[in-house]
Amino acid sequence: MRFIYFAFLVFITDAAISGTESDTTDVADFEVSKEILAIIGDPEYGEYLAGDCTGCHQADGSYDGIPSITGWDIESFVWAMQSYKQKVREHPVMQMMAGRLSDEEIAALAAYFETLE
Ligand code: HEC
Repeated sequence: MRFIYFAFLVFITDAAISGTESDTTDVADFEVSKEILAIIGDPEYGEYLAGDCTGCHQADGSYDGIPSITGWDIESFVWAMQSYKQKVREHPVMQMMAGRLSDEEIAALAAYFETLE
């Protein structure tokens, strides 16, 4: 009985691990195109768009179970958002949020959040 339980646990853990690492594309290998990275975002437009984000992500950078996204360098921010938008990084809510945004809007959000402490 013990063995069966153990085997079941291993199976579940294994499924959980392969479930987070997408089988098709590995997040670590994800690259954002030069064209997208070259877009200069407008921080004022980003501030306007950020109203959709700060209900979950704290604008003061504090962590309450949802990761802090303030003060990131623009490239990392764009990379994270594009990995959700292009469905390489798994997360239903963020895939939906990022999927609705254009590349220009993502650049604007990156420019705005970078200015926050
Ligand atoms: C409903 C709550 C919710 C909303 C709204 C939301 N997010 Fe998120 N966001 C999350 C959660 C939860 C995670 C962690 C997801 C994960 O584990 O991949 C996350 C992750 C992120 C990350 C990656 C953080 C990291 O540490 O890798 C970025 C960047 C981000 N969100 C930006 C945004 C932006 C920009 C918006 C607004 C357009 C937004 N989020 C709206 C909940 C939300």
